[in-house]
Amino acid sequence: GVAYMDGQYLPMSEAKISVLDWGFLHSDATYDTVHVWEGRFFRLDLHLDRFWGGMQRLRMKIPYSREQVTDILHNCVALSGHKSAYVEMICTRGGSPTFSRDPRQSENRFIAFAVPFGSVANKEQLERGLHVSVSEIVRISPKSVDPEVKNYHWLDLVKGLFDAYDAGGETALVLDENGNIAEGPGFNVFVVKDGGLRTPAFGVLPGITRRSVFDLAAEINLKAVAEDVSRSDLSGADEVFITSTAGGIMPVTKVDGTPISDGSVGPVTRRLMDHYWKKHS
Ligand code: PDD
Repeated sequence: GVAYMDGQYLPMSEAKISVLDWGFLHSDATYDTVHVWEGRFFRLDLHLDRFWGGMQRLRMKIPYSREQVTDILHNCVALSGHKSAYVEMICTRGGSPTFSRDPRQSENRFIAFAVPFGSVANKEQLERGLHVSVSEIVRISPKSVDPEVKNYHWLDLVKGLFDAYDAGGETALVLDENGNIAEGPGFNVFVVKDGGLRTPAFGVLPGITRRSVFDLAAEINLKAVAEDVSRSDLSGADEVFITSTAGGIMPVTKVDGTPISDGSVGPVTRRLMDHYWKKHS
């Protein structure tokens, strides 16, 4: 992979930041991940919107325009030589030259990189569906950290993953403050019931892939709503799938060890997966 920082393009192994950077010390950073497929960026504008929105909410500024960032991202991909890549743009609080604890004294930093494509689900899991376990852990409160700011607060999600592994699952879903389903480590979740789609509304990252599912559903006349999803909505669903830039639309066929419907990938999920990948070509 190739990274960009401080005006230079570097091999990933040479892209290093100070351990005193607040992004590292305090998770005081925002980022976004875009998918490049066969050399083309997928919905880059939406990712840039979310990245700029996050920086604004966190009161961070970078000395680059959207056009300049777009060029930097394209250059990272071109220099990396990868046709299919994950491209990340990051803004960290940085640090203060005088070690001030006042975030206003920090020099915000912009870092970008392009690395090979990697997915939440491997090939086998995409074919047979993921096995997910629900963790009791509650996703960080939207009252304290705005979930619309794409953030590196992942201690809850990582705890959820270990809970899931302990319970025999392959990945995790964590809860919102009311005990409903929120999201997972790097993905949103949808349930299909009686031909309609539902995804949690609040306390989750508004995923770009989640949004793509709403667009696809409208195109093929499926009803889709953002509303609370309880644990029983999940276990009683006809179909379940998760969505992420890291993998697209990915089927879930088991929740907490119990098959969803007959345990195979459902027709609505398959249709959405096909349509989603058609948009990439
Ligand atoms: N993660 N929820 C969380 C907590 C996420 O980190 C992500 C994305 C999503 C899905 O959003 P999108 O469809 O825009 O990718 C939901 C990215 C892929 C990452 O971890 O790099």
